[in-house]
Amino acid sequence: MYILGMESSCDETSAAVVEMGDGVRAIRSNIVASQIETHRLYGGVVPEIASRAHIEAISRITYQALEEAGITAADLGGIAVTAFPGLIGALLVGVNFAKSMAYSRGLPLVAVNHIHGHVAAAYLTHPDLKPPFLALVVSGGHTSFYRVDSYTDFCEIGGTRDDAAGEAFDKIGRVIGMPYPGGAALDRLAYEGDPHAIVLPSPALGGDSLDLSFSGIKTATLNYLNGMRQKGEPICEADVAASYTHRIVEALVKKTERALEQSKMSTLVLAGGVAANSHLRSALESMCQKRGVRLAMPDRSLCGDNGAMIAAAGYFELLRGNLAGTALNASANDDGL
Ligand code: KG4
Ligand code: ZN
Repeated sequence: MYILGMESSCDETSAAVVEMGDGVRAIRSNIVASQIETHRLYGGVVPEIASRAHIEAISRITYQALEEAGITAADLGGIAVTAFPGLIGALLVGVNFAKSMAYSRGLPLVAVNHIHGHVAAAYLTHPDLKPPFLALVVSGGHTSFYRVDSYTDFCEIGGTRDDAAGEAFDKIGRVIGMPYPGGAALDRLAYEGDPHAIVLPSPALGGDSLDLSFSGIKTATLNYLNGMRQKGEPICEADVAASYTHRIVEALVKKTERALEQSKMSTLVLAGGVAANSHLRSALESMCQKRGVRLAMPDRSLCGDNGAMIAAAGYFELLRGNLAGTALNASANDDGL
């Protein structure tokens, strides 16, 4: 069955055609129109500009996705759209476009939770992957552990109390002069520095909890940078990137080990934009190898926001009969309310 997946929750407009069925999980097209260059001028995503840019791109990229897949709308088995969480104005563009298209073509419509979409990206890279498993979703807006009991049942078991890991990477990237979003550039720069050069507090909160907090490490890094600037001492940006990345990755790995113990899961899925981080990927690889845990990560090209992951998640919602009607609304909140 061909599913059209649509994503517009933040700063990427995406439409994709994914073929899903017994033993088939294949991406036929995955068009992503990124707005990053536009938002870069402001150092972050400007919601109103994002909504307008989605409106301009959505129709074009949808037809491009169908064309590249070599199908027409008549061949689709359903349309899946991100309905929550995200920027409300941005989400509404995708939701309204998908609703109109589903209505006019008489196609089933499915509302997808963006986080479930990130996790579903792993099904596309690992066609044999099945729940149950533990998922760590690390993105610009989320850093959470989920027990994934079935393709459609997620239970959040811990995560950050404040910022998301992506936000934390972007913030420090920005103050050391990287264009928005700094995550990927910081990842590369970290290879050139000493991970032990600067002592920073751990984002892993104490005890057996799965809680993390990124505000302390962010403030400590800012204080370090300000202190060095005030003293007129040179700052080695690569050391900052390496020390900061090291502490964040170490904390994520530590809490993931705890989450694996608590949930008794033998498979781990890493998902979300920050899942593209090469230091995190290799640290989790060694930890999982040591513990005999299967690690399933989406291909790096599928970690950021894209329509294919939404189509994959939507397929499983469709199988469960979780259809949306023309009354479907978008929501900024995690629980969709
Ligand atoms: O999942 P995503 O595309 O959007 C949200 O749903 O938030 O994640 C975007 C985040 C940004 O903060 C970006 O800097 C971060 O993912 N990111 C990275 C890397 N690539 C993207 N962070 C660290 N290392 C990377 N290689
Ligand atoms: Zn995302």
